Amino acid sequence: MDQGDAPRRFRDAECNEILRGLEAAQKRLPSKYFYDARGSELFDQICELPEYYVTRTERAIMQTHAGEMAQILGSKVRLVEFGSGSSVKTRLLLDQLDAAAYVPVDISGEHLHKTARELAQNYTRFPIEPLVADFTEALTLPQETVESRLTAVYFPGSTLGNFEPTAATQLLRNIRQLVGNDGGLLIGADLQKDPAELEAAYDDAAGVTAEFNLNLLARLNRDFGADFQVNAFKHMARYDHHHGRIEMHLVAKRAHEFSIFGQRFSMQRGETIHTENSYKYTLDGLADLAQTSGFRTSKTWTDAAQRFAVQWWSAIGRTKTLAKAA
Ligand code: AVJ
Repeated sequence: MDQGDAPRRFRDAECNEILRGLEAAQKRLPSKYFYDARGSELFDQICELPEYYVTRTERAIMQTHAGEMAQILGSKVRLVEFGSGSSVKTRLLLDQLDAAAYVPVDISGEHLHKTARELAQNYTRFPIEPLVADFTEALTLPQETVESRLTAVYFPGSTLGNFEPTAATQLLRNIRQLVGNDGGLLIGADLQKDPAELEAAYDDAAGVTAEFNLNLLARLNRDFGADFQVNAFKHMARYDHHHGRIEMHLVAKRAHEFSIFGQRFSMQRGETIHTENSYKYTLDGLADLAQTSGFRTSKTWTDAAQRFAVQWWSAIGRTKTLAKAA
């Protein structure tokens, strides 16, 4: 990482992606840029907010059912986790799991290795084999050190919800490839519910989500040489029924001009930059998604209010539907 260098040299791909988004009729910025040090801190705060039921609900499901999940996964499982592996949720599962190995996958090597070292101190029954990689690309797992009976991917947190439908299907098909015919996927997904409850979860009374959203502009100023006036924008979250997703936007409170990478942009008052989609699922929708990516939803665990679902998807052979859609 060359993050600390001055002057910062920008990667072409990042630069192009940002400029393309800002040149679009509906301006947009990639949500992955939320997570600088400040953004990650704010996200941790979001997870503890009274309105943000997501983390707490999934954690409760894991607390109640991790034993049964471990039983279904069975003996000598190689568990591959997509995203951060430091969370309480993972530990709840690892505590009960008869694992051959735990392979946390994350794009941030620094964070990943720190987490892996901490986990290795607590879990000595199986090796911890961190893999620095972008899980949105097709992955190759390291050679097994202990022979496993099956490979399972753990993908919690409804992180899938940040992917557009086609990208989500692609990612799930990559997972299907990775786990093979005997494997499966343990996935956490946020469910569709009363829009008022959804909108409150993404626009909390304490204003933490607003700060999280606005930090994206501050981050672009800090790390990418932009000159946004952060206080010219306000946070907005709304549920889009048609797409079944929460959208977050930054709304210009007044006409505003800014530049980034030497390019100048102007915005009208009320114009927005679309910063995040968070897709919400139905159980039927998840079953369809499983089917088109080569899985079957073998087991579903939810909370009493059906706010969130954790599901075990077991691999099925390539079906006609899959072959046609591919
Ligand atoms: C990390 C993608 C699951 O969509 O709920 C939380 C991110 N954004 N509040 C979500 C987020 C605003 C979160 N995910």
